[in-house]
Amino acid sequence: MPDQDADPELEARLPEGEVFEPPESFVEQANVSDPDIYDEFEQNWPECWERAADHLSWDEEYDTVLDDSNPPFYEWFTGGELNASYNCIDRHVEDGRGDEEALEWVGEPTDETRTYTYSELQREVEEFAAALRDRGVEEDDIVTLYMPMIPELPIAMLACARIGAPHSVVFAGFSADALATRMNSADSEYLVTCDGYYRRGDPLDHLEKTNEGLEGVEHEVSDVVVVDRLGDDGFGHDLAANQTDYDDLVAEFEGAEVEPVPRDAEDMLFLMYTSGTTGQPKGVKHTTGGYLSYAAWTSHAVLDVKPEDTYWCSADIGWITGHSYIVYGPLALGTTSVMYEGTPDYPDKDRLWEIVEEYDVNQLYTAPTAIRAFMKWGKEYPDQHDLSSLRLLGTVGEPINPRAWKWYYTHIGDEDCPVVDTWWQTETGGMMVTTLPAVNDMKPGSAGPPLPGIDANIVDTTGEQVGAGEAGYLTVNNPWPGMLRTLYDNDERFIDEYWTEYSDTDSSDADDWVYFPEDGATVDEDGYITVLGRVDDVINVSGHRLGTMEIESAIVGVEGVAEAAVVGGDHELKGEAVYAYVITEDGYDGDEDLRERIIAGVEDAIGPIARPEEVVFTTELPKTRSGKIMRRLLEDIANGETLGNTSTLRNPEVVEDIQSKVSND
Ligand code: WTA
Repeated sequence: MPDQDADPELEARLPEGEVFEPPESFVEQANVSDPDIYDEFEQNWPECWERAADHLSWDEEYDTVLDDSNPPFYEWFTGGELNASYNCIDRHVEDGRGDEEALEWVGEPTDETRTYTYSELQREVEEFAAALRDRGVEEDDIVTLYMPMIPELPIAMLACARIGAPHSVVFAGFSADALATRMNSADSEYLVTCDGYYRRGDPLDHLEKTNEGLEGVEHEVSDVVVVDRLGDDGFGHDLAANQTDYDDLVAEFEGAEVEPVPRDAEDMLFLMYTSGTTGQPKGVKHTTGGYLSYAAWTSHAVLDVKPEDTYWCSADIGWITGHSYIVYGPLALGTTSVMYEGTPDYPDKDRLWEIVEEYDVNQLYTAPTAIRAFMKWGKEYPDQHDLSSLRLLGTVGEPINPRAWKWYYTHIGDEDCPVVDTWWQTETGGMMVTTLPAVNDMKPGSAGPPLPGIDANIVDTTGEQVGAGEAGYLTVNNPWPGMLRTLYDNDERFIDEYWTEYSDTDSSDADDWVYFPEDGATVDEDGYITVLGRVDDVINVSGHRLGTMEIESAIVGVEGVAEAAVVGGDHELKGEAVYAYVITEDGYDGDEDLRERIIAGVEDAIGPIARPEEVVFTTELPKTRSGKIMRRLLEDIANGETLGNTSTLRNPEVVEDIQSKVSND
């Protein structure tokens, strides 16, 4: 059962009790506006999921919607065959929509933009697919894409999908070590990367980091394709013998035609590594039929995406949100998806609003951490722009506090756009808990009810549903098409991580299996779920999921460190920030030099996103009598909270000492 120490805390994030109705003008035009949809899904489960599959074109019709004969290894749309690249591109061209925009790419430099119509996207994808094949990539080979927000990233993803090669995208902000770990875990022999990219006006050297990462790859990497993003601003690296310039390579395949390979519905579309409880990231496996249906269906039902829309999700494609809601969902529906390379504050803090105005964006999907920053910068930035094209707003990644929700609703949506607060995970493939924007009232701070067909419940440690307002654990009872199928090459860990807490793991009856996402939550009398945050050793920094164990192992790898404990402390903008409590080795001082080396160690092992906000040197860590580190207490210290009874500790005297060293600002 979940760790009692990690019991979610209620008070900080409870909604303020206000309710907002969906705007009339939105309801009239919405893709889904009939409240009966919940009953229809429930009464017709699992066949209701045909509605998701109907958003796709199948080469071979499936025979069975759900095969649950071997839980938790569920299979969806079995017997069906399809190709994701065909579904995201070709069929729209065949429908006569080839001249409509598929991708609007906005570079960080304000004068750099690129538009790809569906026909242009098809040509680029086919040429790169031909190039990948020429380099030896075959069906089922895993291709790693270590790329920032440049158009070649979605092009490479779709090119992989076209030839049946699963991709594994590694967030460009991750470190060289993180790249190596992921390539090693997936045995990936092919890599697509780039020379660099811009961050707030400065070029960053990405190829150097790539090369450093490649040194840590244990097997032979046969081919590396390098996109020249920076041109004259580049760093002038020579390409190694196994490295090819993207443009040179593609030029050899000008006009190439590559038939989309029909894939089994259950064939892997991609792997996505994410943080878990242990130090090793988990390779989440998503499939072609179930994942794509689910991404398309939720884009249709929740984001209200229509082919004629211009839709913008401001996430990075290096995370699941970008996979499902920049690339696969929107393109499957044939809409125009905006993709932005830079940060919201460059060259000025109105950059996003300038883009919304310029492109007449209809839906904006972003993260609470960004909204809190906008709020801090002030409403004068959005006020400089005409945002009237917006019809719907969305958030994802972490709990949104009611104040930030209301700011978003008022100053960005002009009180005329529904806000969908969507709870989901890398593992769920798509949204799970959120209001349907034309059906349900909105309650700021609460994500809403589970989507139709999703059987989510808030339970106590014994699996019994908790009463309204009581804190418990979020669980999901029925499978859904977008769910992960396993962890790459590790079925055992898949079961351990997600299914042991609440399932009867000896049973072969699907009803006895319950998915546990490791989030704490409450539910109110209307069935609205408020997600409180992780109850495992995962923290959420600016909507990015980080494993405390991963950070701890990076810190103990630094010379002079004996032991480390990492927790998440509350942070005004980031949601949570990394607090590291460190015991030095004999002969080392907890001084500025060691602090800097610790920070560098974390950045090298994971990336700047995991950088500790505070490093607190201590002689001991608070431990229970059985020797377990009291993380809860360390969290309370980080948050400057009054501590409860510490007498059950083996070493209560350390607490005051640690408290005096933490600056609670
Ligand atoms: C958290 C991102 C509250 C949650 C799509 C989950 C949220 C983790 C919300 C997954 C939300 C995501 N409200 N918490 N609307 N959305 N989370 O895998 O803790 O990067 O388990 O997927 O983010 O993070 P991941």
